[in-house]
Amino acid sequence: MRILGIESSCDETAAAVVEDGVTVLSSVVASQMSTHGKYGGVVPELASREHLRAIVPVVREALDLSGTKLEDLAAIAATVGPGLVGSLLVGLTYAKSLSFATGVPLIAVNHIEGHIHATVLEARRAGTPVEFPAVALVVSGGHTHLFELREGFEYRLLGRTRDDAAGEAFDKVAKLLGYSYPGGPVVDQLSPLGDAAAVRFTFAKMKGNALDFSFSGLKTAVLRWVESHDMQAEIAARRALLRENPSPTPEQWLAATPQRTLDLLASFQRAVIAELLTRAAAAAESIAARSLIVSGGVACNSGLRAAAKAAGLPYPVYFPSVGLSTDNAAMIAAAAFPKLARGDFASLDIAAQANLTLA
Ligand code: KG4
Ligand code: ZN
Repeated sequence: MRILGIESSCDETAAAVVEDGVTVLSSVVASQMSTHGKYGGVVPELASREHLRAIVPVVREALDLSGTKLEDLAAIAATVGPGLVGSLLVGLTYAKSLSFATGVPLIAVNHIEGHIHATVLEARRAGTPVEFPAVALVVSGGHTHLFELREGFEYRLLGRTRDDAAGEAFDKVAKLLGYSYPGGPVVDQLSPLGDAAAVRFTFAKMKGNALDFSFSGLKTAVLRWVESHDMQAEIAARRALLRENPSPTPEQWLAATPQRTLDLLASFQRAVIAELLTRAAAAAESIAARSLIVSGGVACNSGLRAAAKAAGLPYPVYFPSVGLSTDNAAMIAAAAFPKLARGDFASLDIAAQANLTLA
């Protein structure tokens, strides 16, 4: 049973065909990075325009690469939220029109559930399926959440960020220092060259739910450090590099980064990882979890992966491959598979929901 997945919630236009919830027959992602890079973040109006340009060819390519005709599909799944409403609308409306024209049923998928399913799908494919109950840590540019995940995909919210998402913290710190958007990959590439013990950032103590996250204090601490270390010239030099070249290579960034800035980046990244892993491990302990699954763009972070391994946690920790960590449509098709089995279809008048929650 083949499902076409369509994802357009933020700045990637993506389509994929997945068979039986596990076999990714095609996964096409048209990234808008070169459009938004120089602005230091996603510009919603530009994102919708780019989605409109890309949606038809991206879906066509996903169908062609998988050798699938529209009428062979068991369902068409699209992200219904959360995300930028003008972006969501493009993918959802196109999915509705395909469903209307072909009679293939429509399935609406929550983007956060999609991220979780990327990891679940790969664990199944590797022959080491996730054991329940699990804790799911979803860390992306828009979300930092901890969920309890039970058999049958029932979710309970255990904790969430009170301010910025983890990916947003990477993006804002990178922007502040003159690097390109998205900031996570640049910080990840440069951090191993710095001394992570050089700058001490304090771990945020949370009043109330100790499984909630906070990143705004860390961001402010980086800003204070920058202000007190006379960094304007090097930041201006990086901004100039970015004006000449919208996507500099890691080597170019390295050449424009003095050692003390490498140390700052490494220390910042270590603090983000400590925040994520400490609370995820506490969440897992609180529900006696049998596995921890990590999803979303920040799951790409090599420091986070290494730290999770080194932590020696008493249950397996699952990460998705890099291609399925950031936004893609294979995860949307995979999340739709259990809904197809349940007959959980969407009506053609379903609306995009910018603030949709999972639990
Ligand atoms: O899941 P995603 O593609 O989109 C959202 O749903 O937000 O995540 C994008 C986020 C961005 O904030 C980006 O900086 C971050 O994921 N990211 C990373 C890495 N690769 C992407 N953060 C840290 N390290 C990385 N290697
Ligand atoms: Zn995402």
